[in-house]
Amino acid sequence: MRYALTSSEQGLILVDRYGQKPPLRIDYTSKSFNQRRRHLTPKHEQLIKAVNQKPGATVLDMTAGLGFDAFILASYGHQVVMIERSKVVYLLVKDALKRAALVEELIPTVSRMQLLLGDSTQQAWQEQKFDVAVIDPMFDAKKKSALPVGSMQMLQAFLGSGAELQPFFDAARARGIPRTLIKRPRVAQYQLAGGQRPVYQLMGRSHRWDVFFNQVS
Ligand SMILES: C[S@@+](CC[C@H](N)C(=O)[O-])C[C@H]1O[C@@H](n2cnc3c(N)ncnc32)[C@H](O)[C@@H]1O
Repeated sequence: MRYALTSSEQGLILVDRYGQKPPLRIDYTSKSFNQRRRHLTPKHEQLIKAVNQKPGATVLDMTAGLGFDAFILASYGHQVVMIERSKVVYLLVKDALKRAALVEELIPTVSRMQLLLGDSTQQAWQEQKFDVAVIDPMFDAKKKSALPVGSMQMLQAFLGSGAELQPFFDAARARGIPRTLIKRPRVAQYQLAGGQRPVYQLMGRSHRWDVFFNQVS
């Protein structure tokens, strides 16, 4: 087997036995991530701006991944339910949240985050009402410009890429979530059924957030 999920002194890590890259380990306490968390205003953080709600909004992160987007949202004060389909990724995030909760100043943030294992396009058990849905399936790595960096690259090698957007979008709408955000590479094009277009887009350096309003009856 190429990949191994292993316990280390620094927590759970995913090792690529054939690759040269360092093991994948999620760390919400790193210096660089702390730095990012210190500038959590809509002006500095496109995701906060795309959510466009006061702290305390309820957000469903339909593609938890490494949990960084969810952690940013929870740091701002939003309540985040994050769903991850891969058991391995789920365990890595769970372990990272546990370690983050050992840092006193991060306890309130972690307490606003709930991690669930499952397929967010299928689960009918989510009865909770959400203000916003966040969708960030793996970028397609065919184009050089869409290549992710660092741990996300390792995650992509492990999971593969190219998830369809439509099932997430439909599931968010079916749940009556009034606002949906889709994260895409800056120049990516995609089509949703019925020619549905974002109401607006927020451009970041490597990606953009497409913002959709859903008609909720
Ligand atoms: C690009 S990553 C998300 C990165 C995340 N936004 C972050 O900040 O770390 C995409 C993740 O979505 C997960 N995923 C894909 N399809 C899913 C589904 N139907 N339900 C739940 N998770 C899914 C993948 O396993 C992968 O971990």
